[in-house]
Amino acid sequence: MKLIPARLSVVQPSQRREFDIYVVNETNPVLLLSKDAPLQKNSQIFKNNSNRLIYIPSNQLNSYKHLVADTLDEIMEDKELSKSSKMYAVYISLTSRLEMLMNEGSIAAANSIFKGISHLIANTLNDTSSISVFLSFIKNDIGNISNHMFNVGTYATMLTKMLYPDISNIQLEKLAKGYFLHDIGMLKIDKKIVNKKEKYTDNEYKEIKKHPQLGVEILKNELKINDPNIIKIVLQHHERKDGSGYPNGITDINRFAKICAMCDIFDAITSKREYKEDTPKTTFEALKENKELFVQEFGKDHYEAFVKCFKV
Ligand SMILES: [Fe+2]
Ligand SMILES: [Fe+2]
Repeated sequence: MKLIPARLSVVQPSQRREFDIYVVNETNPVLLLSKDAPLQKNSQIFKNNSNRLIYIPSNQLNSYKHLVADTLDEIMEDKELSKSSKMYAVYISLTSRLEMLMNEGSIAAANSIFKGISHLIANTLNDTSSISVFLSFIKNDIGNISNHMFNVGTYATMLTKMLYPDISNIQLEKLAKGYFLHDIGMLKIDKKIVNKKEKYTDNEYKEIKKHPQLGVEILKNELKINDPNIIKIVLQHHERKDGSGYPNGITDINRFAKICAMCDIFDAITSKREYKEDTPKTTFEALKENKELFVQEFGKDHYEAFVKCFKV
């Protein structure tokens, strides 16, 4: 049985639980609570363990994530919960709902993604320590489209706030929807190609290039989203200023689509791909070694603001 680390503090005790909770004593896993055992917030078990790592069997991890996502509003209102636990709950909710969307094609999951975005913006972006906590949740797994969408969504939302400090939360939430959903069009492309870890063949690349346009169709037809900035983020995030990008080879690119493009490239550089021989770059290396590329394509202001996001 494989056990995955998680946090107990974000488990709402009132809810039915479909996962066992383990702790690790010395090096041995010990069952703390089986899934049918009730958990009360004032119980000794909760008090003694709320700040320590718990472990969930990997085949029950989704139940844990769903419980956190389903109870996110309650978690965010809990006055006793630390800021870091709240950030963690937002992270778990966003990643689990992005997985639901991209793995199961559940369009309904988008509404919970929007809820996560709204909590992220209201609770994280106004203080610098929360930004670093949130950035620490980023994992650089390649071949995992939902993970990539989470990373780009997080980077781009932070970069937008850095470049436009006076932007309203409402406006930022709108743009963040585009950032977190930027690759939603991949839903309509053969999963075998999307999840491929090796380099694409020419024909596969041709298929992949359809995702911006397919994404716009999903936004308009299935999610009823027509906001011009959101549409352009999804449509133009692979365009390049010299016209060499896709799908339309345009040169006049929406400024928020540019932010998304920069974060998209950054996530690709810092993630491990099996066909690349070199090891993935750390944040610092990626920023330093690609300075010229970023400044050239996106401008010095964007590059400097991006570096600042990691320095806070
Ligand atoms: Fe894309
Ligand atoms: Fe992307």
